[in-house]
Amino acid sequence: MKRIRIDASKSYTVAVGSGCAAETGRELKAVTGNARVMVVSDDNVYALYGKQVRRDLETAGFGTSGFVFPHGEEHKNLETYGKLLEQLCAENFGRSDLILALGGGVTGDLAGFAAATYQRGIRFAQMPTTLLAAVDASVGGKTAVDLKGGKNQAGAFCQPSLVLCDTELMRTLPEEEFRAGMAEVIKYGAIGDSGLFKLLEETEPETLRTAGANGLLEDIIARCVEQKKIFVQQDEFDNGARMLLNFGHTFGHGIEGASGYQVPHGFAVAAGMCIISRAAEKRGLCGSQTRKRIETLVKKYGLPAETGFKTEQLLPFIASDKKVKGCHVKLVVTGRIGHAGLVPANVAELADWLHDGGVE
Ligand code: GLY
Repeated sequence: MKRIRIDASKSYTVAVGSGCAAETGRELKAVTGNARVMVVSDDNVYALYGKQVRRDLETAGFGTSGFVFPHGEEHKNLETYGKLLEQLCAENFGRSDLILALGGGVTGDLAGFAAATYQRGIRFAQMPTTLLAAVDASVGGKTAVDLKGGKNQAGAFCQPSLVLCDTELMRTLPEEEFRAGMAEVIKYGAIGDSGLFKLLEETEPETLRTAGANGLLEDIIARCVEQKKIFVQQDEFDNGARMLLNFGHTFGHGIEGASGYQVPHGFAVAAGMCIISRAAEKRGLCGSQTRKRIETLVKKYGLPAETGFKTEQLLPFIASDKKVKGCHVKLVVTGRIGHAGLVPANVAELADWLHDGGVE
């Protein structure tokens, strides 16, 4: 098992390893002492792991409760959030108790936001069950729910007390979800870890699906978390360096929005990374070899390098993105593999960027 210490406004450990879920009770005890635990999960994940996790916690002496909500981004909303808060209140959860997010990014965002706001803040821990949540959403303390007006529009920065990332749980991931997670892994390689990028180029995707036992997946997740740690420690509240984690996300959010959130986040980010790299190449900001390597790797992992949506369909969602400040946006460009930077742009110029990136 690998242990990575994150020192943000709060310090916590991200443990990554095969089978570490079985250690949940012991690991949590070390950070919370005696507490009650509300296990928050969607119906799919709860059916697979919920009972076992609660049993392990109870064996370690915790009292447990469960909050199960229907799966899907459309349930990461104020209604589900309100129900969770009401259940915490009805069951007399107090400040010394804890919420455990067992699931993917939706669960972590929802449970984290409830933890950030219930009684002005209680502790929470993350047990990611998707690759995407393991490498990104569960680390760094971004929590939120969606509003009718947009994704993640109500939220808070709230660091967890512990993240337990068991690679075994990722074996049951549907193929598409695994690929979506790989988009974020490719992103980490592109923006800050050329060795990771090369490793992905040299690895057969299928090997990763079965790698729980040989530790390759564990290494890759730990490498991504090590890199996220650098950005989060430097810029916890996302005003500078952390923005580099948004490589592919500005145009990706446009694709997600235009699709009515039917295109999975990772697929949209993959296309977004390729669009911005093509546009950056035209502006002399990205080498042609770099652009080619990004496109080739994205395709190798079964992800899209293009979008079928048109510029005018994407623009309204890009313009309403949180990253847009007035008429200004900072675009993340990977100039060469392992090195990314921010390029300021005017919202009025975004149509040209999209066209240059191959969007009609
Ligand atoms: N998902 C990007 C970040 O945590 O900043």
